[in-house]
Amino acid sequence: MKLWEKGVTPEESVIRFTSGSDRESDLLLAGWDIAGSMAHAIMLEKAGLINRDEKESLLKALGELMEKERRGALKIEEGVEDIHSQVEKELTSMLGPAGKKIHTGRSRNDQVLTDIRLWMRRATDDLAINIGRLFKALQSLSERHSSVLIPGFTHMQPAMPSSFGMWFGAWAEGLADDLEILAGARKLINRNPLGTAAGYGSALPIDRGLTTRLLEFEDLLYNSAYASLSRGKAELAVASALASVAQTLSRFSMDTCLFMTAEFRFIDFPDELVTGSSIMPQKRNPDVFELVRGRTNIIQTLPGQVVSLTSNLPSGYNRELQLLKDMIFNGFRDLNECIDIMIMMLGNIRVRENITDGPVYNAIFSTEEVNRLVAGGVPFRDAYREVAGKVGKESFRATTISDYTHEGSIGNLCNEKIAAIFAKGMGSFRSRSVYELAEKLLSEANE
Ligand code: ARG
Repeated sequence: MKLWEKGVTPEESVIRFTSGSDRESDLLLAGWDIAGSMAHAIMLEKAGLINRDEKESLLKALGELMEKERRGALKIEEGVEDIHSQVEKELTSMLGPAGKKIHTGRSRNDQVLTDIRLWMRRATDDLAINIGRLFKALQSLSERHSSVLIPGFTHMQPAMPSSFGMWFGAWAEGLADDLEILAGARKLINRNPLGTAAGYGSALPIDRGLTTRLLEFEDLLYNSAYASLSRGKAELAVASALASVAQTLSRFSMDTCLFMTAEFRFIDFPDELVTGSSIMPQKRNPDVFELVRGRTNIIQTLPGQVVSLTSNLPSGYNRELQLLKDMIFNGFRDLNECIDIMIMMLGNIRVRENITDGPVYNAIFSTEEVNRLVAGGVPFRDAYREVAGKVGKESFRATTISDYTHEGSIGNLCNEKIAAIFAKGMGSFRSRSVYELAEKLLSEANE
């Protein structure tokens, strides 16, 4: 029985096709749907749309449903379309008429908007914590190996002296930027669509400000029609933030694969962390980083997928918006898995010393030589020409660097400044878990 059934039994294959993966994926939204319903019930009573007893029995039943969800026992039954229908069905079978009142002044459209925003808010907070772990791992490697030189490249040609300190630290600063972008997306999604109903509001005297406060949103999404249009925009902001983190991870993985090759051998991992070949006994392959590279490259297509799905969509609710959910759920899951495995790998990375002593890298010290002449008073262009004449010939030999003192150079990485920027960014990511939020709502309802 569908919520919208009115005498005609819908064709089974149509229901199966239109439900799509909702019967599994929506379980991720279950807790948020229940918490949203708690806030809604509290509001309905304050607005005089249900009485005190009805509110109390709804909250009690919702509390029990939340417990069921927590135990993993809440399922979307066969024949039920989505989590919103399941929650209403359970309430109605537990409470009878009072259960049937929960849908007063709302639609599944504003429910799903609310659930997704609450889910994404918490998911960005968890992701930020995970990014923070990776950030720490990179910064501590940067500090530990700050004086181990590697060549820096431009055009894939050896260019100037760099260091593992600079290399590891660079990815950490990239993550600090990614965190800012994620914070921007989080701010945008932290507004309340509940009560905008199907996209045109309700003639009942609901109090949208109250549910905004109860669900700890920063503000309302005001215009009801925009709340519905915002589905796709909120996801685009979040997908762009995921793509930004993914870009950092993907490029880092590329370098890692390159630096592990027999030609480079800058870094290595213990045997247990590399993979082998079924035919070539000597192989030690960086499969982990290849898969991180591939998976994060796919995550970088997410904003394009969101844009493609929503371009040319007329305003108001349209059913394909439902497809956004899996894009976002899978994006977070994949990104977190990539971060987790990278942290583990980085905990075991080995770096080679004395890399730049090799003759191939002799010429990266030529700019140093130029600078030494410049410091002694020779005009830059003359010094450049003089050293250029020697480079590539037996007469040019150098393996040491000058003092690098300016901010962000190999002698002055400023990791602590970057850490301070990152720590400040982390301040934006604080929300309650779904269970903490439900507990807060239930205790507030009794006040
Ligand atoms: N499963 C739907 C979605 O995610 C829920 C909203 C259904 N609304 C509707 N009018 N069919 O979009």
